[in-house]
Amino acid sequence: HRKVILDCDPGHDDAISIIIAASAQSNLDILGITTVAGNVEVDKNTINALKVKDLLKLNVPVVQGAARPLVKASEIATEIHGESGMDGPVLPDPKSQKEEGHAVDFIIDQVKKADGKVRLVPTGPLTNIAMALIKAPEIKSDVEEIVLMGGGTFGNWTPSAEFNIYVDAEAAKVVFNSGIPVTMFGLDVTHQVIATDEIQKRLAGINNPTAKFVSELLVFFGDMYKEHFGMSGGPIHDACTTMYLLDPDLFTFKHVHADVETKGELTYGETVVDLLGVTGKPANTNFAYEVDQEKFWNLFEAILKAYDEE
Ligand code: BDR
Ligand code: CA
Repeated sequence: HRKVILDCDPGHDDAISIIIAASAQSNLDILGITTVAGNVEVDKNTINALKVKDLLKLNVPVVQGAARPLVKASEIATEIHGESGMDGPVLPDPKSQKEEGHAVDFIIDQVKKADGKVRLVPTGPLTNIAMALIKAPEIKSDVEEIVLMGGGTFGNWTPSAEFNIYVDAEAAKVVFNSGIPVTMFGLDVTHQVIATDEIQKRLAGINNPTAKFVSELLVFFGDMYKEHFGMSGGPIHDACTTMYLLDPDLFTFKHVHADVETKGELTYGETVVDLLGVTGKPANTNFAYEVDQEKFWNLFEAILKAYDEE
C-alpha cells in the first residue's frame, strides 16, 4: 500500500482528486486529508473536505492547516469556486468533524510514524507542506515524492503565475528547493484535461451519488471557466495528481530543474522550468507536459462507474 496525504483546498477539482484517491484504497493508503487556505478561507475548505468525506463514507482524518500564506496576505478565488469554495452541488452539512491539532503537525507525525515512505499530494497553496519541512526537516528522507498541482509555463492568476503557486510563492520555493523529488502537474498538462460539454454529457449518464456530485461540480466549474477564460469547460487540474498515483503511464514527463520566482515585478509566483537545461542545475522536478486524454477520461469514467449506486 502506497501511503499518501492529500493536502488541499476543496475546491471543485480538489474534491474530484479526493474521489479518485478514495476509489483506489486497495492500492492507496490515505493517511489523512489536510486543508489549507486557498480557493476560499481554510474553515470553508475544511467544511468542504468533511462534506466529501461524508459523501464517500471515507474513514480518514481531516485536519485543518494554515489560515494564511507564509509571507503575503491571503488571496481567494471565489470567482472560480463560488462563495463556499465548492458552489454548485448541495451536500448536507458535515456529520463528521475535523481532528484536533494542526495539519503541519499531523503531516510531520504521520510521516515519522509511517512504516515506509509517504507521498505528499498538495493541490492547493504549499503553505502546510513548506511549514512541515521547515519545522521538521528530518522528515525529508521519509517523503518519497511531492506530487503537486501548481505552476506551469503560463499563468491563470497573472499572465505568468498559476493560482496555487502565486498565493504562496515563498512556500512553493521552499518545496521546490527541499531536495525531495517533485512531480509537477502544471497548467501545461492540466489544460489538456478539460471537462467539455461532451465529457460532461458522458459522465452525466452515470447513476450513482458520487458521479452525480462530480457532474454537478463540473457544470458549475465549467461555467466559471467559460465565463472567465473563454474556455470550453473546466480543466480538472487537481485530479491529475491522483490519476497519476493510479496510473503514472497516463502522463509524459521531462526531468528538469524548476524554481519559483518570488521577486519579479510582473512574474511573482512564476515557476521557472528549465526545459532546455540552460542552468546546468541538477533536475529536481518531474515536469508533466502531456497526457493521454482518451485513456485519462476512460479511466476517470470507470472510477465513477465503480462507485456504489446507493
Ligand atoms: C488550481 O487553483 C485552484 O483554483 C484549483 O483548485 C487548482 O488547484 C488551478 O490553478
Ligand atoms: Ca486546489
